[in-house]
Amino acid sequence: MLSTLQDLDLRFVAETADHADAIEDIAAQAFGPGRFTRAAERVRERSPHDPALSLVAILRGEVVGSVRLTRVAIGGSPVLMLGPLAVRPSFKKRGIGRTLLAMAADVAREVGERAIFLVGDRAYYMPLGYKPLPSGSVIMPGPVDEARILGLELAPDAWSGVRGRVEPRR
Ligand SMILES: CC(C)(COP(=O)(O)OP(=O)(O)OC[C@H]1O[C@@H](n2cnc3c(N)ncnc32)[C@H](O)[C@@H]1OP(=O)(O)O)[C@@H](O)C(=O)NCCC(=O)NCCS
Repeated sequence: MLSTLQDLDLRFVAETADHADAIEDIAAQAFGPGRFTRAAERVRERSPHDPALSLVAILRGEVVGSVRLTRVAIGGSPVLMLGPLAVRPSFKKRGIGRTLLAMAADVAREVGERAIFLVGDRAYYMPLGYKPLPSGSVIMPGPVDEARILGLELAPDAWSGVRGRVEPRR
């Protein structure tokens, strides 16, 4: 997998305002108009993502993938919400998505964050370390399939006792 990434001459860098249009374009390709109706979008309306914790994959000057992290709290405990994660269709299946995920977790750990959650496909995220969170423990501001709420610990027992509504961090 690494050799594939090296062949592509990819760079992974922190998101800046210059990347915004390309990220929006990739999200539109990946998720379509339905993306605005998702519960995660309701969270991001109240708590914008943190560009310093978000990453883009760049190939020869073009953004080909993106992952965003948003600082929120659940029942007063600070956690990060991950998403959207998206890769341009023509660059899928080359390890870009899983590299963005791993690097986002590293950046989050480095700044002292303890846990990440997301709403996503188990089949993709569970082999990459995400685990289902206890039913009812994460209350999103809109309908969501609970089975898709997955969490990653960045510190030991970070999810222990975390329960409640997803809210802006104070
Ligand atoms: C999901 C996504 C980010 C993965 O990016 P990527 O760069 O192709 O991912 P990777 O190269 O790291 O991994 C690819 C592998 O994941 C698998 N995969 C991709 N999406 C999957 C899914 N929803 N469920 C299960 N497996 C999935 C691919 O089939 C591939 O498997 P393989 O390695 O056995 O061929 C990309 O497919 C995408 O942008 N999809 C549309 C948006 C989306 O669904 N985002 C995630 C939110 S749930």
